[in-house]
Amino acid sequence: MSSTSQHRLNIDNINPHVKAAHYAVRGELAVRSEEYRARLAKHDSSLPFKEVVSANIGNPQQLDQKPITFFRQVLSLLENPLLLEHEDVLVNQMGYKPDVIERAKWHLAKVGNVGAYSASNGSPAIRQSIAEFLERRDGYPARFQDIYMSAGASSGVNTLLHVICAGPSSGVLVPIPQYPLYTASLSLLNAQCVPYYLEEHKNWATDLDALRESLKEARANDVDVRCIVVINPGNPTGASLSEDDVEAVIELAREEKLVIIADEVYQTNVFVGKFHSFKSALRRMQEKNPGKYDNVELASLHSISKGMVGECGHRGGYFELVGFDPEVQQQIYKFVSIMLCAPVIGQCLVELMVNPPKPGEPSYELYEKEYNGIYNGLQERAVALHKAFDEMEGVECAEPQGSMYLFPTITLSEKAVAAAAEEGRPADEFYCLKMLEATGVCVVPGSGFGQKPNTLHFRTTFLAPGTEWVGSIIKFHKEFMDKYR
Ligand SMILES: Cc1ncc(COP(=O)(O)O)c(C=O)c1O
Repeated sequence: MSSTSQHRLNIDNINPHVKAAHYAVRGELAVRSEEYRARLAKHDSSLPFKEVVSANIGNPQQLDQKPITFFRQVLSLLENPLLLEHEDVLVNQMGYKPDVIERAKWHLAKVGNVGAYSASNGSPAIRQSIAEFLERRDGYPARFQDIYMSAGASSGVNTLLHVICAGPSSGVLVPIPQYPLYTASLSLLNAQCVPYYLEEHKNWATDLDALRESLKEARANDVDVRCIVVINPGNPTGASLSEDDVEAVIELAREEKLVIIADEVYQTNVFVGKFHSFKSALRRMQEKNPGKYDNVELASLHSISKGMVGECGHRGGYFELVGFDPEVQQQIYKFVSIMLCAPVIGQCLVELMVNPPKPGEPSYELYEKEYNGIYNGLQERAVALHKAFDEMEGVECAEPQGSMYLFPTITLSEKAVAAAAEEGRPADEFYCLKMLEATGVCVVPGSGFGQKPNTLHFRTTFLAPGTEWVGSIIKFHKEFMDKYR
C-alpha cells in the first residue's frame, strides 16, 4: 500500500532514513529461517532438514550456551528478595553458596530495588565496580564518573553517534566489513559513513594506508570526518588486533583529530594472542610521551551479550569516556537521561561480569568450570568449522582469532553469478539463500557487512552445537558447486 492507503502513515511518507537503513543480520534470510522454524514446529515434513540453525546472529543462549550459575543465582535473589528470608533453604536445599547471598545483599543495599529506575547513567556503585575492573584489566586508574551504563552496547553506540554527528556532512570512519549497527545508525542519523577496508590477506588487520586514503577522499568531498570506529576483536571478521595496530589507530586519531569508538564487546573472545584494549594503549602512549596524546578522545564499549556471559536478552553494557570535554559529557548525560536509564537487572549483570567469583571464594570452582567449558567449546567449534571451510572448493577463510564468527571468501562460477542475477540477487545472497533452503542453516551474506568490490563472503557464527550442521554445509556446497559448474 502506498499513497492510496487509508492510514495516516504509509511507506512513502515515513522517515526516509528508516527506510534507507539496512540490518542484514535480521534481514530477509533470518525472516525466512523463522518461517521454516514455524513450519517444522507444525511437523511440516516437506522441508529437506529437521531443524533450523540460526548461525546468523551472535546469540549464544538461543543455541546451547547455558547461563553461568553464579550470575543467575544472584539475579534470582535480586528479582525476588523474599527468598533471602530462607537462607537455610537456599544454601542447604538449593545449592546457593554464601557468596551468592552476600553479593545479592550487596546489590540490594547499593543498587536497591531492581524494579526502580536507577541514576540516568547507571547505579554509581556498579559504575565504581566497573572502574575497579578497568583498573585491574589495564593497570591504569578509571573514574566511575566517566562510565555510562547502556542497554547493551547497541544503545551506547546509538548515544555516541547521536552526539558525535551534527548534521548530514558529519562523517564516521567505519571498517568494512563491519557490524551493520554502525552503517544502519548512520543512515538513521542521515550522517556519512566513510568506509575503510580491512586487509583480508593479513587476517583482517587495519590498513593504515587505506584508512588515510578514505579519510582524504571523504574530506576532499567536504565530509566533516569526526570519528573512527574500530571493532576489536572483529565482527564479522573474527580478527584480534595487534598492539601495534591499536597504537597506529590512536596515532592517526591524534594527527587527524578523530574521536575513537572502540567496540570491545568481544574482549574475552580471543583465541590467538591477547586482547589489547584501546584504553591501556592510550594510557601507555600518554605515559611515554607526556602531553602528546592528552587530547585524544576515546569511547570504549563493553557488553554482557558476548564473551562467556552471552546474556544478550538482559540488555546490559557500558561505555567509558577518556579525554572528552566536560561540557560534551554533560550533554551525553542528558542524552542518556532522556531514556531514563539502562535496564537495572542488566546493570547488575554487568557488575557480576566484571567482578565474578575470585579464587578461594565458594562459587569460584563452578564459575571457572562453566567459564572454561564455554570458552573451550567455542574455540573447538571455531577450529572445526575453519577446518571444514579449508576443505571446501573455492572457500578461503582466515584463521579464527576471536569473537564468534568466521567470514570466509567464496569464489562462485560465472554460471552461479548469472543464476543469481536472474533472480535479481547479489551472488552471495543467492548462495546463502540456497544454503538455507537446502540445510536449514541461516548465515548472512557478506554484502550485509560490506566487502571489497568483486569479492563474495558469508558470515557464520560458530555457536551452534554439534557437527551435523557443518556436515550439511559441506554437502550443500559441493552440490551447489557441481550444479553451477
Ligand atoms: C561488534 C558488536 N558491537 C555491538 C553489538 C551489540 O551488542 P549488544 O547486545 O550489547 O547491544 C554486537 C552484537 O552482535 C556486535 O557484534
